[in-house]
Amino acid sequence: MELVFATNNKNKLKEVQALLPKEIKLLSLKEIGCTEDIPETAPTIEGNAIQKADYVKDKYGYDCFADDTGLEVEALNGAPGVYSARYAGEAKSSEANIDKLLVELESKENRSARFKTVIALHLDGKLHTFTGICSGNIIFERKGLQGFGYDPVFQPEGKSVTFAEMSLEEKSTISHRARATRQLIDFLTKISR
Ligand code: IMP
Repeated sequence: MELVFATNNKNKLKEVQALLPKEIKLLSLKEIGCTEDIPETAPTIEGNAIQKADYVKDKYGYDCFADDTGLEVEALNGAPGVYSARYAGEAKSSEANIDKLLVELESKENRSARFKTVIALHLDGKLHTFTGICSGNIIFERKGLQGFGYDPVFQPEGKSVTFAEMSLEEKSTISHRARATRQLIDFLTKISR
């Protein structure tokens, strides 16, 4: 089965492809000739995932799925949430985003946070959504060099290392994206029986 994964992020494509059975081949946006920026203007993580999946389906006619992820920090009332990528500005710099997050949390005792991923899937004329959560804490300074985004400051619950100190395989056993993706895989496996 060929499915478009509506992303231009090579890290994410690699992570998700690694979790999928071999029979499912992911096509990137580039592979279907979609080179423009897909609008992400919804006020929620779920809304953004649906908006991206709708766009690919409507404009290119492919069955596809799109994900959207946000980091929700308890002491910041759920921020940066839907604005996670551009928390410190439109440059979408992970370094600047982490700097801003650490400053915002300087005076806070509560360091609880969670990553939330929503995947929206268009398949055979129907829309489905899957949600994955990974809870943890924001630590005080960066640790580790793996991964991307907020990984160096996010320590998942029950672990003594950050996402950025884990291998891709290790992160994939517990991550928000892996959890949402597993639901997607279970769904695709069931309906293809
Ligand atoms: P996206 O919707 O997956 O592009 O995620 C939005 C933003 O959340 C990204 O630009 C990253 O800053 C952050 N993010 C998403 N997934 C992860 C992750 O697995 N680790 C760390 N940061 C992430």
